[in-house]
Amino acid sequence: MLDRLNNIEAEARSELQSVEDEAALQSWKVKHLGRSAALGSILDGLRELAKEERPAVGRRANEVKTALEGAYEARLGALRARALDRSLREERLDVSLPGRPVARGRLHPATQMLRRVIAIWAEMGFQVYRSRDVETDEYNFELLNMPPYHPARDQWDTFFTTQPGVILRTHTSPGQIHIMRERAPQPIRVVLPGMCYRYEQQDASHEIQFNQVEGLAVGERITFADLKGTLTSFARRLFSQTVRTRFRAGHFPFTEPSAEMDIECFVCSGAGCKVCKNTGWLEVLGSGMVHPTVLANGGYDPERFSGFAFGMGPERLTMLKHQIEHIRSFWANDLRFLEQF
Ligand code: FA5
Repeated sequence: MLDRLNNIEAEARSELQSVEDEAALQSWKVKHLGRSAALGSILDGLRELAKEERPAVGRRANEVKTALEGAYEARLGALRARALDRSLREERLDVSLPGRPVARGRLHPATQMLRRVIAIWAEMGFQVYRSRDVETDEYNFELLNMPPYHPARDQWDTFFTTQPGVILRTHTSPGQIHIMRERAPQPIRVVLPGMCYRYEQQDASHEIQFNQVEGLAVGERITFADLKGTLTSFARRLFSQTVRTRFRAGHFPFTEPSAEMDIECFVCSGAGCKVCKNTGWLEVLGSGMVHPTVLANGGYDPERFSGFAFGMGPERLTMLKHQIEHIRSFWANDLRFLEQF
């Protein structure tokens, strides 16, 4: 029996010499140290041996088991060290290679302009007030001095909803009534940015969905001179300190008097070119003194209070500033266009 144990050890050690990877090592372990291995059955059968033979065989069997377990651990360590060594040698990392640049997103040009416009008004002491996109006919028209069937409503081609009297706002002006009703009789200086919707014939400068920034100032002694001075100061901050402005009479039912503000064409400095259609001027916004009826609808006594309001389109301002020819470029998702900003 002792000879058999010596043979078991010798055979297992010799087979271990040719084990070259961890999978083969596991098979070796099952074959020589597992429960059904020759060594295992000798240990299991010790009880059946003659009494005098038992101690010597038991001792030697345990020695062989310990020796083979030690040999297994040593081989496992050697195989792992060899694998690590190979991977360090073969899978070398070149840390001097330049990294791959990460693609960076950017803000949409209309968003950039919207933020710039809002930042300028904030510097000038105007708070930002957000009003709703889905409006009632009452706020979008009636309270702005356009009763039902008023012909001026045709200026704003409207998207109606299936709910009677509920529409998508055609301009940010209904926000004027919301803020006045919230603040009356406190003085107001706010800008109201937001998306507007019009059932328009689309062309180079008209979209069915676009941003507007509305402005409203209400107080006890606000004059048309304040309107002109404030809007000119805004234009200088946005375009350039030397830009010239001009006010032309305009018409909006909710302001009286009303005026459109133009800036001198920055491409030709007023001489006339394609961008300004040879007029020398570029239209920037609509404005006016808040109509007394609108002030009263907002909860302000028009005998005591006055105010000015204005509305501009950031997409159109971006088109002017960067000489963009078609408003559709803003929504076409063409990266060649968007990556220029
Ligand atoms: C108005 O909407 C008035 N509520 C502005 C106003 C406010 C006047 C307060 C007086 C006092 P208008 O329809 O002109 O006015 O639009 C204002 C600006 O919105 C335009 O100058 C233009 O920049 C932009 N805009 C109007 N329609 C479109 C459109 N279809 N696509 C893109 N921008 C537009």
